[in-house]
Amino acid sequence: MYLGVDYYPEQTDRALWNEDVRLMKELGVNVIRMAEFAWTMMEPADGEFDFSFWDEVVETFGEHFDIVLGTPTATPPAWLIEKCPEILPVTKDGVRISFGARRHYTVNSPIYREYCERITRKMAERYGRHPRVIGWQTDNEYGHEQSDRSYGDVDQVAFQAWLKERYETLDALNAAWGTVFWSHTYTAWTQIPVPRTVFQEHNPSLLVDFDRFCSDAYRSFNKLQVDTLRPLIHEDAFITHNLVYSDMAINQQQMAQDLDYVSFDNYPVWGGLPEPNRFEKTAHDHDLCRSSKQGKGFWVMEQLSGAQGWSRIGYLPRPGHIRLWTHQAVARGAEAIVYFRFRAADFGTEEFCHGIIDHDGKPKRKFEEVKHVMSELHAHGDMINAATYKSDVAVYFDQENLWAWTHQPHSDAFNFKQEFVRFYGAAVRQGVNTDIVFPGDALDSYKLVIVPLYFLGNDVFDETLIDYIENGGNVIFTYRTGVKDPINRCHNLTLPGKFAEYAGIEIDEYESLQTVQSNEVRLGDQVSEANIWCDLITPKGAEVLATYGQAFYKGTAAITRHTYKGDVTYIGSSVDDAMLDTVYHEALTRAGIDANRLPDDVEKVDRHGDGQLIRFYMNHSTEVTSSVELDGTWQTLDGETMTGTLELEPLAVFLLKQEVGA
Ligand code: GLA
Repeated sequence: MYLGVDYYPEQTDRALWNEDVRLMKELGVNVIRMAEFAWTMMEPADGEFDFSFWDEVVETFGEHFDIVLGTPTATPPAWLIEKCPEILPVTKDGVRISFGARRHYTVNSPIYREYCERITRKMAERYGRHPRVIGWQTDNEYGHEQSDRSYGDVDQVAFQAWLKERYETLDALNAAWGTVFWSHTYTAWTQIPVPRTVFQEHNPSLLVDFDRFCSDAYRSFNKLQVDTLRPLIHEDAFITHNLVYSDMAINQQQMAQDLDYVSFDNYPVWGGLPEPNRFEKTAHDHDLCRSSKQGKGFWVMEQLSGAQGWSRIGYLPRPGHIRLWTHQAVARGAEAIVYFRFRAADFGTEEFCHGIIDHDGKPKRKFEEVKHVMSELHAHGDMINAATYKSDVAVYFDQENLWAWTHQPHSDAFNFKQEFVRFYGAAVRQGVNTDIVFPGDALDSYKLVIVPLYFLGNDVFDETLIDYIENGGNVIFTYRTGVKDPINRCHNLTLPGKFAEYAGIEIDEYESLQTVQSNEVRLGDQVSEANIWCDLITPKGAEVLATYGQAFYKGTAAITRHTYKGDVTYIGSSVDDAMLDTVYHEALTRAGIDANRLPDDVEKVDRHGDGQLIRFYMNHSTEVTSSVELDGTWQTLDGETMTGTLELEPLAVFLLKQEVGA
């Protein structure tokens, strides 16, 4: 198992290199990632290349470790920006982003693509065949830090060309977008704007098409680097990109198809956040990585190890957090962990993006914790990686649906990712493994498919899902299902559209609730606040599980279940986690899945090995000790026998194994 550190020799006094090698070896490091921000060192002037420093680095560190090199295109040099300012991205307000930080480029600049192809090729020609260079990372965190969209002239020209290829005729585009509305009808491609700032709001179809364009542009930018690298690197070397899986105009699952591995930068907490994200969010991120490559293992190319932040310094990971977050990633499919960063920088914007060793260079608590985790994973990591991650439960996600919601959130209380993670996390809390599925993925192996917030339709997924339901599949839908067609227009079916007959309901009215508003939902004796949205459901064959408790629609159905062939449950409002627990537990149980609500903040993940079941129990609470009842006799990976009640102290991790059939 690859275990390593992100290292910046260009930011580290040469006199420290030998000490760093010694300390890295003491940790158990076998791989280091470098060079992803080193363009100016390699090309100090236009067309003049100097690899002498990096030759020394690759030789010095290559004596001891394998190496992943980053192409340096996230930081174009000052001389290049001075020569070609069109490379700089432009905000929707028309402000050109200044040189002075990073990610200061638009992928739609043909000139920039030429320079990126050249520096990538020069690096690959230099190091592509080096036996210790085992992998290449393209760029760094595409689209991150607001760099996923650019609204400049070069972007507009590229967008118009993209539209012409997609719609072929202006008539088709005008019809698709409904441009007769507010007199937008376009009579020339050059009239079509990138969605810069307007007084009101842009056409929803233009907005989602612009997101699709931005995503395609980044994907082709990445593919240019992949295609440049491939013929110049040794055949065992891999190409990856470190994704950040956030609400960007990038379809990272599509991009993953062009990579040998998905990599992910795992920061459960960053900057000014007072505490880490809920553990279900991080679990969701890992499931996205594994599922976007059809279950293939991924790399955590940056694993938080110290408090992170630029001008504001973030949360200090508690003793045990590094180990907990590492095992959570491994449990959900990470087959390599690279810790960010080995040594803190003495200068630059990231002086306080702490790593394993702080500015005084002394190995302390974090060093010892990483060392302990690496020793565990050097002992058991390959066995875990070889064990299969299997799931009976799938949760549907489509980046384009996220975009549509982002442009039309309905309520000031709505945040897509937060709501999505709530509907995903309710399954995780029941102690079941979960997969994420995308348009085009098969569903027939799952006992339950959860389809949260399915607002923007996808014809491919619709067909797969209907086939799954017709064959007895069990589904959970949530509010605002079936509203839009794929070009982000409302269709004319009574909601939930195509799925009305399967859900056994009709939605004749609905209400958006702003942050200051709420209703309530009553499910037997259980009462939940109803926030964000209320679908007023009329059963058409479905059983009513819960009703609204207030307003003119008091007593109207809020949650229903229809046994079509399997169960089709519809959750018509944003009810609280406790009510989701109730609804999910029943849906999972009826689907024949062994579901048991875990204690708060406790996570369970199973891996199926050769003749044995490996189970991770992880307590993400920093305060509360919880306990779980073990079913049967288990052993720790070190051979200690465990039965009965397992006590999980704060931030505890237990890796247990049980012979299959025990
Ligand atoms: C991101 C980047 C790194 C660094 C860290 C700091 O993940 O990839 O270059 O900026 O954040 O937390």
